[in-house]
Amino acid sequence: MRRVVCTEWGEPENLVIEELPDPVPGPGQVVVEVAAAGVNFVDALFVAGTYQIKVPPPFTPGSEMAGTVAEVGDGVTGVAPGDRVLSSLGLGAYASHVVVAADSLTPLPDQLDTPTAAALAQSYCTVWLAMTSRITVTPGKTVLVLGAGGGIGLAAIDVARALGARVIAAASTPEKLADATAMGATATIAYESEDLKTRARELADGQLDVVIDPVGGAHTEAALRALGVGGRLAVIGFAAGDIPSLRTNLVLLNNRSVVGVDWGAWAMRNPAEQAALLGEVLNAVSAGRLHPATPSQRPLAEAGAVLRDLLERRLRGKTVLVP
Ligand SMILES: NC(=O)c1ccc[n+]([C@@H]2O[C@H](COP(=O)([O-])OP(=O)(O)OC[C@H]3O[C@@H](n4cnc5c(N)ncnc54)[C@H](OP(=O)(O)O)[C@@H]3O)[C@@H](O)[C@H]2O)c1
Repeated sequence: MRRVVCTEWGEPENLVIEELPDPVPGPGQVVVEVAAAGVNFVDALFVAGTYQIKVPPPFTPGSEMAGTVAEVGDGVTGVAPGDRVLSSLGLGAYASHVVVAADSLTPLPDQLDTPTAAALAQSYCTVWLAMTSRITVTPGKTVLVLGAGGGIGLAAIDVARALGARVIAAASTPEKLADATAMGATATIAYESEDLKTRARELADGQLDVVIDPVGGAHTEAALRALGVGGRLAVIGFAAGDIPSLRTNLVLLNNRSVVGVDWGAWAMRNPAEQAALLGEVLNAVSAGRLHPATPSQRPLAEAGAVLRDLLERRLRGKTVLVP
């Protein structure tokens, strides 16, 4: 087997590839031959050593993957060699093979291709939790999505549209805004060149209901100021690097709310609820209510270059690494 290894926290270019004997599953475990590993922002943070959970090197990054069951250990029921599965394993997905607990695997519906499945769980589960539980998005509401051409952004557009909301997409380039429009956004804001607060208010006819914010930095305050009566801002991440400090008078005005969404911690504490949530997402994909974008494919050996592209805002939508 081959795997990517982070031998020291720092730049993604320092990642190396290791060759090892193929793994053997222990009792209750399964070896999955990885078809594709989803690339996520958190992977870059683990490699830099700047994530809130710090994993000492050496480790293999990669928080999610999909592939085919190669071998099962003693006592495993429910999955068999040849099954197509996905797993949100947290770390270790940037590899040709992974060993995981059998109960961490989810079978893939026939309608879902393996690369798309590899890049789906983290973004869609985060957004689904945000919009159905933390802030609830209902038909007729207007939702502003920041970083709309990224992984969370495109998932947010898809889920908001499926829930009957109208979506305004904000992103940095015409290409990312075109991706957001293709996903279902009906209005766009080029937030590095246009006034985000003013344009969002105009496009929402004065009643912006929800902001989905995976970006942070200066855009958060502008988006908060754009929210209408009872508006809610979901704090999802800080891709811009700066964690904004907000003045609470902006929350008081218009009876607004600022709501945190920490899907990873929630999923670890609530595994049964997470399995149910992922099931809802996959059912919605199978039924054609959600249509996740097909990810770009890059070779596993390019892991460092792909993470560099992510950190420099060059990726569009989702990307998977193919062993
Ligand atoms: N709370 C949770 O449970 C949870 C779950 C998953 C992810 N997250 C977090 O959500 C954030 C976004 O994740 P993602 O998967 O959507 O990442 P992504 O696919 O890389 O998208 C992030 C977007 O942020 C924008 N951005 C602005 N400034 C940036 C900068 N300096 N560097 C990189 N991107 C920048 C980019 O869009 P523009 O170029 O258009 O500005 C980019 O498309 C990350 O902080 C991640 O850790 C949180």
